Amino acid sequence: MPAGTQVDYDGLIPNNVGLNADLALRRALETWHPGYIDWWKGSGPAGFQDSLVYLRTAIGVDPEGWARFGFVKMPDYRWGILLAPAVEGRRIGFGAHKGEPAWQEVPGEYRAALRRLLVIQGDTEPASVEQQRHLGATAPSLYDLRNLFQVNVEEGRHLWAMVYLLQKYFGRDGREEAEDLLRRRSGDPDAPRMLGAFNEATPDWLSFFLFTFFTDRDGKMQLAALAQSAFDPLSRTCRFMLTEEAHHMFVGDTGIQRVVQRTLEAMRAAGIDDPTDVERVRALGVVDLPTLQRKMNLHFSLTLDLFGNELSSNAANAYTAGLKGRYREDKIDDDHLLRAATYPVLRWRDGAAVTEPAPALSALNMRLRDDYVAECEHGVARWNKAIAAAGYGFRLILPHVGFNRRIGAFAGAPIAPDGTILEAAAWQARRDAFLPSAADGAYIESLMRPVAVPGQYAPWIAPPRAGIDNKPGDFEYVRMAE
Ligand SMILES: [Fe+2]
Ligand SMILES: [Fe+2]
Repeated sequence: MPAGTQVDYDGLIPNNVGLNADLALRRALETWHPGYIDWWKGSGPAGFQDSLVYLRTAIGVDPEGWARFGFVKMPDYRWGILLAPAVEGRRIGFGAHKGEPAWQEVPGEYRAALRRLLVIQGDTEPASVEQQRHLGATAPSLYDLRNLFQVNVEEGRHLWAMVYLLQKYFGRDGREEAEDLLRRRSGDPDAPRMLGAFNEATPDWLSFFLFTFFTDRDGKMQLAALAQSAFDPLSRTCRFMLTEEAHHMFVGDTGIQRVVQRTLEAMRAAGIDDPTDVERVRALGVVDLPTLQRKMNLHFSLTLDLFGNELSSNAANAYTAGLKGRYREDKIDDDHLLRAATYPVLRWRDGAAVTEPAPALSALNMRLRDDYVAECEHGVARWNKAIAAAGYGFRLILPHVGFNRRIGAFAGAPIAPDGTILEAAAWQARRDAFLPSAADGAYIESLMRPVAVPGQYAPWIAPPRAGIDNKPGDFEYVRMAE
């Protein structure tokens, strides 16, 4: 068995980081634990805390068979600290320290920068749980309810992962940051979460699927970049988190697919040839595609803001220091120093979007965002395939990257989703054609009626193709507490 695959499952905190032999760390984590449970009960999923949920729990870090499925009450979930196995002789793959052995401790000169990266990543994990806390009440099926809770408990575990690194490697500062991660709340005017998209509401299940498709995918990109880190414990932590993250994006991708499929079936059955005949489509009780497009426009643009400024000296410094690499850095064939390289950056110049070469080191956020957008395109292409197969000419699109931005070169730029540049007043006047309106929200909300009978689904969403853990169609994924 490779080093670090053995998981200690006996104590309060399952782990493969030798917690039993590190009393100071164990004490710090056990001190933090009650506050975490308070947070989970007070700000995690509303209701269902006594229900038995068919959850997957990480019990190992071997890619084959790392998880176990079983019925668990969420507060009893075994949130563990799990690092991917150490890579023997791992060396730093990029930046000024390229070729040196990976660090097992934090170099003093990078302490502040690394701590900041951990806190920003850590803050997103509980934030999404808070954003999703009321969705249980309107789940379209027990299958979906279970998937929501699976995502939630794993985001909780990701918080544990970052808290472990803070408490083990950053002393008192780390312990204070760990407390603050439980103190901030999504959308709280006095103590908001750190990043904008994590203070937005996730008011309905369409938003949830789009959030897990778009925003969890940003999480994946960030984790993948941090998995390249010279700081080996961070690399190993992120590599294991990525195995869980894949399921979150699956929930979003297949969730939207099922919504689209149901809409197509209903339109066909009703003899509707024009998907933009919104009134007739809504009369069928399904999500019309133009509304889905507006919701996509919102979630995509909010998520792009998470990549920060296109040009960033922080990103350049983090790269040169070896703290955060590029997406799949180890698969890229170049010098991994980027001192002389350039990268094409989309900028907003005199009312036009233009591409200009910029120093590649400064443009790392832009590059990560480009990698992200390319992945999103694949998902949208899959949805469009279903629309085309049903014989409709309608196409879902990813909006222009300059649309509806608050951060970066395009902040406030009056660009339409299709890339057309408008007068500011014209943009405002068409806002409800670009982004979900109050009426869209009210319609979607009217669809959100819970279905809790095993094997049954709300009329606006198709059943999944397969069950979780190969369970049959009528499996009772959540057993409600009386
Ligand atoms: Fe996460
Ligand atoms: Fe996630």
